Amino acid sequence: MTPRLIVHGGAWDWADALDQVKATSLKKSLSIGWDILQSGGSALDAIEKAVNWLEDDPLFDAGHGSHLNADGVVEMDAILIDAKTYNFGAVAGVTRVQYPISLARRILEDTEQNLFVGAGADALAARLGMPTVSNVSLMSADELQNFRNGVLEGTVDTVGAIAIDAEGNIAVATSTGGTPLKPAGRVGDSPVFGAGGYALHNVGGAGATGQGEHCMRVLLSKYVVDKIAEGCDAQTAAHQAIDYVDNLFERSMVGTIVLDANGNLGAAHSTPKLACGWIDENGTPQATMSNGINGNRL
Ligand code: GLY
Repeated sequence: MTPRLIVHGGAWDWADALDQVKATSLKKSLSIGWDILQSGGSALDAIEKAVNWLEDDPLFDAGHGSHLNADGVVEMDAILIDAKTYNFGAVAGVTRVQYPISLARRILEDTEQNLFVGAGADALAARLGMPTVSNVSLMSADELQNFRNGVLEGTVDTVGAIAIDAEGNIAVATSTGGTPLKPAGRVGDSPVFGAGGYALHNVGGAGATGQGEHCMRVLLSKYVVDKIAEGCDAQTAAHQAIDYVDNLFERSMVGTIVLDANGNLGAAHSTPKLACGWIDENGTPQATMSNGINGNRL
């Protein structure tokens, strides 16, 4: 099977001046993941490394550059899903982990559990010998300033990736710092299986972004994959899911990226923008903030 890869850098609104730098970073993330897939690497490897790049980039709300919560602390959530084994690893409210998506992977592969939270998750990372950092080092200058100014509308958002590898295995990743000035302990959709991400072997995978409470209440990613299982292609499933949320909630602010087992890509959003990147049929990284994949409006 020909591998496919799609990534996102969040659904929200931001100044047009940021579009180009976000697109450039998404393409770099795609190149990292695509190199792995092209050399026969697994979907899990590809999306973990693609998301690590985005976690390092303060242009996005994940890892370094995450939003601060109301107490001035970075609390991060992540999920990594392996469709073939119907398994996932997830973390919520971690404060000292450099790469939450990599901790999610270690939970998936090296523990008998699925979801770790807070201090226990941070301690697990240290026990597993993963890079741990001070909370302050996860704060970008912009996000520190936003916290001090009480800014509620951030210009950065959640990141995610979905890949299918040469063996047809699908994996989904989502990593986030949550919403700006969220109350301490608030957890959004991202680490919730079926909400922030979902995948079924031989069917497809989806990742969610935007307002976590809207994504969680409908298990947005599972809704998308269920649509694929009913016969929709990836793009149709994405549209139907976003329409569903948009009809349920006034001013819904959500987005999704989708990959079906036939290698079709999809993306849709009810937000003004969705930072979305994908590898096209020629193996070239592409990115858009609102114009859709392959010329289709999202
Ligand atoms: N979608 C990320 C969050 O609401 O936390």
